[in-house]
Amino acid sequence: MEKIVAKNLQKIYANGQGIKSLSFSIGSGEFIGVLGHSGAGKTTLMRLLCGAVFPTSGSLCVMGQDMSTVTRTELIGLRRRIATVYQNFNVVPSLSVAHNVLLGKLGSSSLLTTLRSLLWLRSAETKKIAGLLYQLGIEEKFYERCQELSGGQQQRVAVARALFSDAEIVLADEPIASVDPATAGLILKLFFELKNSGRTVIMNLHQVSNAVQYCTRLIALENGELAYDGVPTEFTESEAYYRLIGKKSLALTGEEIYG
Ligand SMILES: Nc1ncnc2c1ncn2[C@@H]1O[C@H](COP(=O)(O)OP(=O)(O)OP(=O)(O)O)[C@@H](O)[C@H]1O
Ligand SMILES: [Mg+2]
Repeated sequence: MEKIVAKNLQKIYANGQGIKSLSFSIGSGEFIGVLGHSGAGKTTLMRLLCGAVFPTSGSLCVMGQDMSTVTRTELIGLRRRIATVYQNFNVVPSLSVAHNVLLGKLGSSSLLTTLRSLLWLRSAETKKIAGLLYQLGIEEKFYERCQELSGGQQQRVAVARALFSDAEIVLADEPIASVDPATAGLILKLFFELKNSGRTVIMNLHQVSNAVQYCTRLIALENGELAYDGVPTEFTESEAYYRLIGKKSLALTGEEIYG
C-alpha cells in the first residue's frame, strides 16, 4: 500500500514562493533522498508531509489521510505515526539528552506513561536509549542537558529521538548537515536499517554521494518543481544532476557537494 500520494501538490507562501506542482507516490520500505539547491522546496515538502503547512491546491494523502481536509484531532493521531528530524534540531534545551530521546515516543504512549517515564526512566528504555547514543558516539552525554551540547551533538540527539520512536514514516531534514563525515555515514546506516524494518524514510540531503550510496530512490527539486524521480544510479547521468552540481554534462568533474 502507498504511504504517501501527491497529485499536482502545490504550497505557495504569501510571497509567491514554495512548491509548484508535485506528483509522486511513496510506499513502505523506501529510503528517499530529496535533493535540491537551497530554496528548492525540500523543507516545504517535509512540512507538508507532517502537516505543519497545508496544500494550496492539488492533493496530498499521508497514510490514507487527506491533508487538505485533516482535522486537528486527526492530525494529532497522524503525527504519532510520523517522526521528524528538523533542520534546526528542535531539541528541548533544558532537558537531558536521555529525556529528549524519550520524547520520540511521546506520541505513541499515553500522556501518563510519558510523564512517568520522564520522572523515572525504566531500565528497558535506559538500555535502548544508551544503545542508540552509543551507536551515535554520544553515550557520555546521556545525562547532560541539550543546551550544553554542540550543534552536531544536538543533531545526533534529534536523530536518536527519531530512531527511538515507533513511527511508520521518518522525515529527516538534512540530518547530517552538522556532523563530521564519519558520523554522517553512521547516521545514514542507521536510517538505512529503519528502511529495512519496513519504515518509510524521507531525507533531505545536500550530499549527492551519500544520497546515491544509501537511498533507494532520489527525488530532485528545482524551484519547487520535480526535476528527477528515480533510482540513484541513473541520477548521476541525468541533466538534473548536472544542473544541481552547477556543471554542464560534458564537463563533469566528480564534484559532489554543492552549496
Ligand atoms: N514561511 C515561509 N514564508 C514564506 N516563504 C517561505 C517560507 N518558508 C520557505 N519559503 C520560501 O519557499 C522556498 C522554498 O523554501 P524551503 O525552505 O522549502 O527550501 P529548502 O529547499 O529547504 O532550502 P534549504 O536547502 O536552504 O533548506 C524558498 O524560496 C523560501 O524563501
Ligand atoms: Mg530546508
